[in-house]
Amino acid sequence: MGSAQNRALLLCFLILVFLLLSSGRVSRQSLPVFACDVGSNPALQNLEFCDTSLGIDMRVADLVKRLTLQEKIGFLVNRAGNVSRLGIPMYEWWSEALHGVSYVGPGTRFSKVVPGATSFPQVILTAASFNASLFEAIGRAVSTEARAMYNVGLAGLTFWSPNINIFRDPRWGRGQETPGEDPLLSSKYGSAYVRGLQQKDDGDPNGLKVAACCKHYTAYDVDNWKGIDRFHFNAMVSKQDLGDTFQPPFKSCVIDGNVASVMCSYNQVNGKPTCADPDLLAGVIRGEWKLNGYIVSDCDSIEVLYKSQRYTETPEEAAAKSILAGLDLNCGSFLGKHTAGAVEGGLLDEAAIDKAISNNFATLMRLGFFDGDPRKQLYGKLGPKDVCTTEHQELAREAARQGIVLLKNSPGSLPLSPTAFKSVAVIGPNANVTETMIGNYEGTPCKYTTPLQGLTASVATTYQPGCSNVVCSTAQLDDAKNIAASADATVLIVGADKSIEAEKLDRIDLRLPGQQQLLVTEVAKVSKGPVILVIMSGGCMDISFAKSDDRITSILWVGYPGEAGGAAIADVIFGYFNPSGRLPMTWYPQSFADMVPMTNIMMRPDLSNGYPGRTYRFYTGETVYSFGDGLSYSSFNYHLIQAPKLVFIPLEEGHNCHSSRCKSLEVSEQRCQNLGFDIQLRVKNMGRMSGSHTVFLFSTPPSIHNSPQKHLVGFEKVFLKAQTETQVRLKVDVCKDLSVVDESGNRKIALGQHVLHVGSLKSSLSLRI
Ligand SMILES: *[C@@H]1O[C@H](CO)[C@@H](O)[C@H](O)[C@H]1NC(C)=O
Ligand SMILES: *[C@@H]1O[C@H](CO)[C@@H](O)[C@H](O)[C@H]1NC(C)=O
Ligand SMILES: *[C@@H]1O[C@H](CO)[C@@H](O)[C@H](O)[C@H]1NC(C)=O
Repeated sequence: MGSAQNRALLLCFLILVFLLLSSGRVSRQSLPVFACDVGSNPALQNLEFCDTSLGIDMRVADLVKRLTLQEKIGFLVNRAGNVSRLGIPMYEWWSEALHGVSYVGPGTRFSKVVPGATSFPQVILTAASFNASLFEAIGRAVSTEARAMYNVGLAGLTFWSPNINIFRDPRWGRGQETPGEDPLLSSKYGSAYVRGLQQKDDGDPNGLKVAACCKHYTAYDVDNWKGIDRFHFNAMVSKQDLGDTFQPPFKSCVIDGNVASVMCSYNQVNGKPTCADPDLLAGVIRGEWKLNGYIVSDCDSIEVLYKSQRYTETPEEAAAKSILAGLDLNCGSFLGKHTAGAVEGGLLDEAAIDKAISNNFATLMRLGFFDGDPRKQLYGKLGPKDVCTTEHQELAREAARQGIVLLKNSPGSLPLSPTAFKSVAVIGPNANVTETMIGNYEGTPCKYTTPLQGLTASVATTYQPGCSNVVCSTAQLDDAKNIAASADATVLIVGADKSIEAEKLDRIDLRLPGQQQLLVTEVAKVSKGPVILVIMSGGCMDISFAKSDDRITSILWVGYPGEAGGAAIADVIFGYFNPSGRLPMTWYPQSFADMVPMTNIMMRPDLSNGYPGRTYRFYTGETVYSFGDGLSYSSFNYHLIQAPKLVFIPLEEGHNCHSSRCKSLEVSEQRCQNLGFDIQLRVKNMGRMSGSHTVFLFSTPPSIHNSPQKHLVGFEKVFLKAQTETQVRLKVDVCKDLSVVDESGNRKIALGQHVLHVGSLKSSLSLRI
């Protein structure tokens, strides 16, 4: 054959290959997983559990009674068994969506069809926005992308997010995932994010767009510190700390957020693994709070409580104990292997299994999983085009802007005018990072804008990393100093990443890792213009050195700011956005980490041994920065309009507090429901830039029952144009907001003087009977 023929054949062959490949790509778009596919199997129509006109309880009961014991056991684990004779396919329960649809968890993956999803800032930064409507807006965007991915077979419907554990200790590697150290902020974050994920647009109050999960219940906040790991840690928690610190976010998540799931943790609480504690699960979550949904174990908590903690003698006993405690689903395979044995051994009856799987099935029914083809349901039209939309990516940038905290700003430093400053030296191991910006429990983002790219969009930049990575064992000073000496301004972007703080990795040190501090100080010495220090981290950093160094003119904390983090950082630095973030956690000095064992979980200080307590509510020592710190390019002024001086609490006649002098009253027995008032104030933006501002209302209760020195009672974020003012009204519910938890874990109304404060405004309120 001639070479021309050869070439023609080759061309035909290539075209054929191309056609095959591209049709392959199309067919790779898989189908969503669902049950009751009556379209392809009309016989299913006659099964009651597939009948959408019936109530969920009836459908669940019908389904359960059709299953054999072995089939039932298959529905106790995350990789739930299929029952093809009933048209039920295998379902993978484990998906994650902490700050965007994530690939952590086998239920979700990215492919050519959906190569990435919008990656919002890590939660600790979003929390710093103190903007509850933002929390919910992010949840809505994430659930839309999740549904879109489900429709093309790339995601499940059950997402084990958010993480609402209290960020009790600054060293915790997973603190970045949480909304910080305050129970009220965590409650507001959790319930708003859950609503955003779960609420359907058709108003069906019991339906679920996707199912969220509040985790890890409870008092979980040690991953791996000096050899003590989460699988073995026994948190010794007082009833008081449990009542006013660890439980409130979960309670709010279940009651206010109506979450579809709670996950129990690995650790023990007071000697009992949480996943086998009937008081915590059946008692509190299901009994008191009335969870409408399922309780799932961490992966694989049941195996951990048997193998690592040796809490039970046999695996069957571990299976029985956790199911009887109220656990419904096991992340892992342990219950799949050992539940049958538990039943045979008489440790568990089938009715307990029925109860557990009924909770799981009911959740899937609320999601429409048993309603036939999801593409014919409310969210059926969502698909790849609804993931990474311009709107969602803009929201990711907006969330980062709203969270970024300005901690220091000397006169004449920020914002940098992009016309006056012609060149900026960008220095530091986090100056041009991508994955670092999205923290853990991440997905593949739509795209990244690194800090360097964000800044370069406005001015000419030079760049030196200064260290080969954040560990920074040897800083490369010379090149960094050279570019700082010749640029009009210097931006140093330092901090941490997952090699410093992560799941299974707590910190020992609160200072900047390695030689980062040296890099910052040496560069600042020779910089020609203002020096902007940007800390990218989840946990706090002891940067006292920078706070007191006059050559460092501004400090920003940017958390892990998400896929658009670099653009948001530039927006703040150049004044396109007026910063309004406030710290959601205390910034402790290194001395705290040297003195306080991470494993001492007590919130309250102990004068007898110098233990300083934890978080702004109790900690009595020095801070580097405090909860709520955060500056703006404007200043804001308050004027109190209205605050009550005296509130009477009605008491039944003959109550013993009429005769004896009570210091406090039980909340439960009192008729203080709907007893509340408003605090009204005027807030004025005194500056020349418009911007948002969060008003915090704190209360200092009378000092009885070891009450907190102050605690957040409410917050409200307002937007104000330059030189304008507005009225802010903060609602206070006397029983909910002004009560304290006593030593036995009971909520009490402390009688006497409560001091309410907003900034430097103080107002005394007397509570009397
Ligand atoms: C599960 O599905 C597989 C293949 O889809 C099938 O072969 C198997 O029989 C199913 N198992 C049950 C218990 O129905
Ligand atoms: C900055 O990071 C981006 C994304 O990884 C990369 O494409 C670019 O080359 C980096 N820039 C420099 C100057 O190293
Ligand atoms: C809160 O966030 C929402 C959503 O991004 C935004 O529209 C609103 O302006 C923010 N509120 C304030 C006061 O900044």
